[in-house]
Amino acid sequence: MKKLLDLLTEEMGKAFEKAGYGAELGKVTVSNRPDLCEYQCNGAMAGAKQYHKAPIMIANEVAEVLKEMPVFSEVNAVAPGFLNLKLSESYLAEYLKGMRADEKFGFEPSMAKEKVVIDYGGANVAKALHVGHIRSANIGESVKRIFRFAGNEVIGDAHLGDWGLQMGLVICGIKERQPDLVYFDESFTGEYPEECPVTIRELEEIYPASSAKSKEDPEYKAKAMEATKKLQDGVPGYRALWHNIMKVSIGDLKKNYSSLNVDFDLWNGESSVHDMIPAMVDYMKKGGWAHISEGALVVDVAEETDTKKVPPCMILKSDGASLYNTTDLATIQQRMRDFNPDRIVYIVDKRQELYFEQVFRCARKTELVKPETKLNFLGFGTMNGADGKPFKTRDGGVMRLENLINDTKAEMYEKIKEGRPVSDEEAKQIADVVAISALKYGDLSNQASKDYVFDIDRFTSFEGDTGPYILYTIVRIKSILAKFVENGGDYNKAQLGEAKNEFEKALHMEIAQFGQIMDSAVTEIAPHKICGYIYDVANAFNKFYHETQILGETDEARKDNLIALLVLTRDILETSIHLLGFEAPERM
Ligand code: ARG
Repeated sequence: MKKLLDLLTEEMGKAFEKAGYGAELGKVTVSNRPDLCEYQCNGAMAGAKQYHKAPIMIANEVAEVLKEMPVFSEVNAVAPGFLNLKLSESYLAEYLKGMRADEKFGFEPSMAKEKVVIDYGGANVAKALHVGHIRSANIGESVKRIFRFAGNEVIGDAHLGDWGLQMGLVICGIKERQPDLVYFDESFTGEYPEECPVTIRELEEIYPASSAKSKEDPEYKAKAMEATKKLQDGVPGYRALWHNIMKVSIGDLKKNYSSLNVDFDLWNGESSVHDMIPAMVDYMKKGGWAHISEGALVVDVAEETDTKKVPPCMILKSDGASLYNTTDLATIQQRMRDFNPDRIVYIVDKRQELYFEQVFRCARKTELVKPETKLNFLGFGTMNGADGKPFKTRDGGVMRLENLINDTKAEMYEKIKEGRPVSDEEAKQIADVVAISALKYGDLSNQASKDYVFDIDRFTSFEGDTGPYILYTIVRIKSILAKFVENGGDYNKAQLGEAKNEFEKALHMEIAQFGQIMDSAVTEIAPHKICGYIYDVANAFNKFYHETQILGETDEARKDNLIALLVLTRDILETSIHLLGFEAPERM
């Protein structure tokens, strides 16, 4: 289905043509004077010069033609030549009927179908997920779902930080604590144990301790670097230990991600491309792109038009070790080889923007991608605390994601208990679902690149621009529909009809924006557009609900129309929240 605004423009174009003017003058826009009209067209002003006529005359002629057409219920030509328009209720109802008959509610993406890889999550093995990871997970999951909804083939990849110095530090830390483990006995030839020698909790302690120590103690740092090298060179004990760390860590990550409804098609990581690096380095040297600079191997990526310095992209350090850049470039090569995607989208902290600029330029220059391959960096801002600084625990530490989720669930539980009498068990079940909406909506409703303040009280509120408010609206609709069914009704048979009051029409108008909003959410990679949309729909619904008798309506045909509108509103909202990555409970 075409977007409503495009259809209106088409109809207006016809009217201009019938009146003897060019159809291109018929551009319809949303009114900037909603007190006067819903839509407007300024084409008569634009045509005045071309047709040597006063704009108001043109506007009057077009208005006459429009009166014969079903699309607008009110058309006013006003000085100096505006056309003020009100959409006809029946035209709008027909549009909504078309939406309801289509499984995507009439959404027709303007982009051509693509194969898309989405790189998000970016968790680091052996480190607990902390609040710094929540945005990549939330935004990435939603972007993945939105792209899929638009009919694209989408692959989500976790791109774990599972290689390099961070792993050397973990291994070194384990060795400090348990030096006698077989993994460190280089003469050992037997089978290595299946079990990891440390638990996930221990791993989470070991990494920060080891990392801190390496910063103070150069000798220790050297040991960590040596461990990194042994791991990368394939020393069997180091590889075996690494595998065990990976198993424990990925198991824990899966559990945490799934509590946020986040899942990946691929659990690849930096390590997955290790074996591709020598050939890639060779290729970059042979192609004449990579050269030695101060001992390191680099590719120059500065461009003449740069207004700020873009340093060369480092491929190998002077000791020959690969680094973050190297694995990212090899990953691009791997993705092109395995999937040949039209686009790769990275959802990473915006502080890595320059880094990705270097990587993208390097990938293009060295022809790892095709000229037409799109490489998008969606950089997100920081989640801050009330003090405007990155969110911390009460004692100033880094907040584990798990704790943040549990705190939000606890707060939600309190609010649900306050609201109505409900058993502890039911309250807990509901709170667990609603809390996820609070966290996700609180995050996603902000434009990704902006920082935002995590405000648990506001996010968990049932009022205002929040996840719980949206869910509350959905649950309200569900409960009316459930009553309707209890009384013997069958809402699937209900038919939409014309809006009979301004509140109902306002709801129709909001719902009708669906295709337009989805299209901008996908083309601009912007989940926050969907939040803005469902907030408007929910507000319009709640106003309508307060002004309208639904179950008590005695005119059966009218009641049927109202029920159909409820069904459509519910379906639109549920589809939208699914795209944002959360769900509604049956009751609240
Ligand atoms: N693990 C990285 C970090 O914690 C994020 C990974 C982002 N993705 C990528 N392809 N580099 O900073």
